[in-house]
Amino acid sequence: MRIFLAGAGGTLGIPLLRQLITDGHEVTAMTRSSAKRGVLETMGARPVVVDVFDATALRDAVAKAKPEVVVNLLTALPAAGPLRYSHLEPTNRLRTEGARNLLEAAAAGEARRMVAESFASAVVELSPGHPMQPTIDALHSLEAQHAEASRAGRMETVVLRYGLFYGPGVPSTRDLIHNLRMGRMALPKNTPGRASWVHVHDAVSATVAAISRRELPKSLYDIADDEPLTMREAMGTAAGVLGLRPPRTLPEWLFRLLAPVPAAFTWCSMVLDNRDAKRDLEWLPLYPNQAAGYGAFARDWGIAA
Ligand SMILES: NC(=O)c1ccc[n+]([C@@H]2O[C@H](COP(=O)([O-])OP(=O)(O)OC[C@H]3O[C@@H](n4cnc5c(N)ncnc54)[C@H](OP(=O)(O)O)[C@@H]3O)[C@@H](O)[C@H]2O)c1
Repeated sequence: MRIFLAGAGGTLGIPLLRQLITDGHEVTAMTRSSAKRGVLETMGARPVVVDVFDATALRDAVAKAKPEVVVNLLTALPAAGPLRYSHLEPTNRLRTEGARNLLEAAAAGEARRMVAESFASAVVELSPGHPMQPTIDALHSLEAQHAEASRAGRMETVVLRYGLFYGPGVPSTRDLIHNLRMGRMALPKNTPGRASWVHVHDAVSATVAAISRRELPKSLYDIADDEPLTMREAMGTAAGVLGLRPPRTLPEWLFRLLAPVPAAFTWCSMVLDNRDAKRDLEWLPLYPNQAAGYGAFARDWGIAA
């Protein structure tokens, strides 16, 4: 199959590209950086250097690739994950204007299907005026734009709402392990919000299924493991399995001051329901919970103490 992969150089993009090439697909891999051309080429993809905000160049690149499926994995987040609300603004723009440009280019290029990345915080309900609201609005914009393209018969669209990524090759996991090792990880005593997570390998297999399955009855699927956890439970699990010290306790006001976005995440419920994905994508997470995911991670990477 011919696939146009936007976000090929990202945390999910790289292992997804590897899998698509292994499966024998012809992948055009988009990046903004000519420095990444070589890596993408070595992986077996045809690289194209385009910025999603350059609508004309994007349309040309997609038309030239003649893809059957276009995949949108565009985010612009700090490697360790967002700490402040300003860190979310570039991604908000990608999920509104960027998503629109890519949908237009895919439709003009006569792609049959579009698969796009959303995130668990799309299910969050906030108090009026909350600084996280623009991020929720941007996710809703991305989801609504795809639903509308599908309704209008422009192409099939599938939005995948992923849980929080973790696992080998995920920069925020690398950062977490480093901070746990150094005894620098700290959380408030109470982190009441539960969130859904997904091991990056399982995010890849779900995305492959969403790209390649012939019939998909729904246009939005939650991609998450079976066990939503609070932030303290999640980090406690990582520390326990990897033989590291659990996070220290920090006063809540200080955590909110130092890391307002993670603080908001520790209070909100971001729980996904993977039953539709299991049924329609015939997908089963290899790692049903983080204890299993970190167990394999520790064995594969030899990082257990
Ligand atoms: N569900 C989740 O938990 C989730 C989802 C996404 C990210 N994250 C986390 O966020 C951190 C950073 O994510 P990441 O490594 O995927 O990197 P990222 O910096 O967010 O970039 C992702 C991809 O988007 C592309 N991109 C960004 N802006 C673009 C634009 N204007 N035009 C074209 N392409 C553009 C980048 O292409 P270039 O090659 O041009 O840089 C890159 O391939 C990681 O820790 C990751 O785990 C988590």
